[in-house]
Amino acid sequence: MNTPSPTASASVSEERLWQLLMDVATYGATAKGGVNRQALSAEDTAAKKHVVQWAAERGFTTFQDDIGNLFVRRDGTEPTLAPVMTGSHLDSQPTGGRFDGAYGVLAGLEALDALNDAGIQTRRPVVVVAWTNEEGSRYSPGAFGSSIFAGVSDLASVLDNTDAAGAVLRDELARTLAETDVPMRAQGSVTPQFYIEAHIEQGPVLEEKGLQIGVVSSIQGIHHLDVVIIGEEAHAGTTPRRSRKDALSSAVAIISALEQMTSDADDITRFTVGRCEVQPGSPNTVPGRVHFTIDLRHPDRAVLTSLVDRIRVVATEKANPCSVTVTDNLSVDPTIFEAGVMDAIRQSAQALGLGHMDMPSGAGHDAMHLATICSAGMIFVPCLGGVSHNEAESATPGDLAAGARVLADTIVRLAND
Ligand code: GLV
Ligand code: MN
Ligand code: MN
Repeated sequence: MNTPSPTASASVSEERLWQLLMDVATYGATAKGGVNRQALSAEDTAAKKHVVQWAAERGFTTFQDDIGNLFVRRDGTEPTLAPVMTGSHLDSQPTGGRFDGAYGVLAGLEALDALNDAGIQTRRPVVVVAWTNEEGSRYSPGAFGSSIFAGVSDLASVLDNTDAAGAVLRDELARTLAETDVPMRAQGSVTPQFYIEAHIEQGPVLEEKGLQIGVVSSIQGIHHLDVVIIGEEAHAGTTPRRSRKDALSSAVAIISALEQMTSDADDITRFTVGRCEVQPGSPNTVPGRVHFTIDLRHPDRAVLTSLVDRIRVVATEKANPCSVTVTDNLSVDPTIFEAGVMDAIRQSAQALGLGHMDMPSGAGHDAMHLATICSAGMIFVPCLGGVSHNEAESATPGDLAAGARVLADTIVRLAND
């Protein structure tokens, strides 16, 4: 008589995964129930060390690379084969939630536990990764850990970046690498065959449709710009309006023109000014300098490019009487995920009887960079009200476990490919 072979998903534990998520959520926990665990901070390092300790307790190999990406490896029966890699990020927004990023890393660790418990050996090694600085809130550009790993950008281009308090990335990185204290592996020494990332959806669609699994088909393109307006500091009481060069007035004119220019009937273009610094920031001095950021997203590369071109023109037109410079900070093409990986995810969800749908991602993810070097895909699970980048971000233990089950079985499918 044939006994069915064990599945990894059957050994995924909802309670164990939830406990791990809650344990990691203590690093940088905020009073409002979220986390502030920004890239390369002491809290981010502490979360990485928690993962290192987790791996040590189970005898898994850990290593890191020169940008601080942290890897946990479970061997396969054919160690020379390129691994299946899974993971996401442990860093958060300044007022972030407990699941954005951490879920993908910790669901990966839960999958490793499940593989062990089920006694499953895979042909390929399975590697769980925590990418450095996906969020880009403390150091820009976002997702540079995975970008450097994939060879899309290089380490030297970010080392001199500073955070708002002036802390130089090179120093914060050195401290993180020393404290995490696991062996180093050179960039390029590990190239995955497959990459699969689990993440909360960060939008309302799955919840609205009552489905537990999103099979992610694409990620829209992202372009970040820095806009600097130079005016002239002057006395607020004595300087006539007609002779001022008020950098903030120009910024307001530029932003409101751009809000209009980028709005479309179908609400597809995403335009956000998330940071605006006014100098000298004194109530009775006319602002002499303003720096603001633009986060622009669209699924179509050609549309994105033409919007960026128009932003430059509008900024120059509306800056008068000040001067303006517009600088590119980040540009990521739209990502189309591989059909074969989407199939593997779909089949895993189907076999578990979980409701699923194909869907695009509005948010950026490390998977967009991994997709440039290997076959990549993503699994979404619902989050409460679609709320994310918010301390109130929430997801149910059941949905998170469902995603981890699909992840575990998909890893086995791909690791035996
Ligand atoms: C990731 O947080 C993004 O900016 O989409
Ligand atoms: Mn994320
Ligand atoms: Mn995020």
